[in-house]
Amino acid sequence: MAVMKIYIRTFGCQMNEADTEIVKAVLKSHNFEFVEEVEAADVVLLNTCSVRENANRKVFGYIHEIKRINKTALMGVLGCMASDLKNNLIQDPKLKIDFIAGPDSYKKLPQIIEQVMEKDEKYGHFDLSEFETYEDIYPLRKQGVNAWVAIMRGCNNFCSYCIVPYTRGRERSRSLQSVVREIEQLVADGYKQITLLGQNVNSYKYEDYNFVDLLKAVSDIKGLKRIRFVSPHPKDFSLDLIKLMAKRENICNAIHLPLQAGSTQVLKRMNRTYTKQEYLELVNKIKKIIPEIVINTDIIVGFCGETEEDFEDTLEVVKKVEFDSAYIFKYSVRSGTFAAKKYVDDVSEEVKTRRIVKLNAIQKRISLKKHKEQIGSIEEVLIERKGTKKSKTDWQGRDEGNRLVIFSDGNYNIGELVKVKIEEATANVVKGEGCEDIF
Ligand code: 5AD
Ligand code: SF4
Repeated sequence: MAVMKIYIRTFGCQMNEADTEIVKAVLKSHNFEFVEEVEAADVVLLNTCSVRENANRKVFGYIHEIKRINKTALMGVLGCMASDLKNNLIQDPKLKIDFIAGPDSYKKLPQIIEQVMEKDEKYGHFDLSEFETYEDIYPLRKQGVNAWVAIMRGCNNFCSYCIVPYTRGRERSRSLQSVVREIEQLVADGYKQITLLGQNVNSYKYEDYNFVDLLKAVSDIKGLKRIRFVSPHPKDFSLDLIKLMAKRENICNAIHLPLQAGSTQVLKRMNRTYTKQEYLELVNKIKKIIPEIVINTDIIVGFCGETEEDFEDTLEVVKKVEFDSAYIFKYSVRSGTFAAKKYVDDVSEEVKTRRIVKLNAIQKRISLKKHKEQIGSIEEVLIERKGTKKSKTDWQGRDEGNRLVIFSDGNYNIGELVKVKIEEATANVVKGEGCEDIF
């Protein structure tokens, strides 16, 4: 068979980006090639997301667009929508999808594609596995300074609004040794930063090793400059983890700590298993041990039954914690979840909009204030690229807190760690000037 050309597009979270790298590695080892344009493809793969209603809508829109550009390519849907919608996707005559493969079916993709080609039949594989971690596959990554390393898959938390436990299945972790081996190779290949990934990254558990043991082992790897991890669950954020972060230079002092809601009643209905008070106490403990910590978060507004007082609780937590930044979403019903079955989506679209606008405005002020506090400080920045929207010669990178830093012209290289003096700030970015000569 002639070499098949694949075009792949990824939607959604970092886990999907990491999964696409696994898919590429699997297909490459079976002699498939990758192309950058839809027109040139024999097979179009969409790695999809279904975490919110508009994620689904985006994918459907894109499927129609692809069909206009390339009428003959086979179309395959991967990822969360494949698990969520299953055979309904391939049976929908309007969509003209040829095959689907869920998040635990990627090793079967070469056979699936060949079978669909040969037999001219539609095909779906979406069974979830309790064991598949893909630890034996070395992902085919883009070159860059950061490499994502998935250490666990799935989620057992069943937050009542969330579809992930249904689309990605049960939690399972890779062996500690396989993670360390992969990162040693990545460091040898020139990656400067590693971000450990998992739906619930700090509930990592392999044999007797927990997340702190793994993080310690990763932090010991020679030549690894920066380690990050996303996303932890507050319930699994142990004192040992905070202490390890404080002690180890190469573990970045930045935490993405999803709040979801500030009201204890709403948190209970969300099945988050912590109260407003417990979340605040955790943040205080982290700030006490690591004063320079940068904390980001995710928040959902307008969850079932959220009253004005409940929303006020969210505002109060946001103001108390002073997150560096926050991703704020309107609640959208995901069918099959506990909330979809048991609660009523009773906050009107209008109220959800009002709350998200208000919360975004407050958060923007806080982000600006936090960023302004950086002015005058000297930050270590890992350079990610040259050129910004406004200037071809400025550099872009991230400081230890994961803040976006833009700084002026200089003789640098991508992947270098440089000192930057911060001189200006907006809510989204801090700006400055490289100052190597100060040291
Ligand atoms: N509606 C709105 N936001 C959601 N998220 C997850 N499920 C939903 C939903 N049904 C948000 C959470 C999560 C982020 C990835 O997406 O805030 O942390
Ligand atoms: Fe979804 Fe909750 Fe699991 Fe995160 S922890 S993936 S929000 S169920």
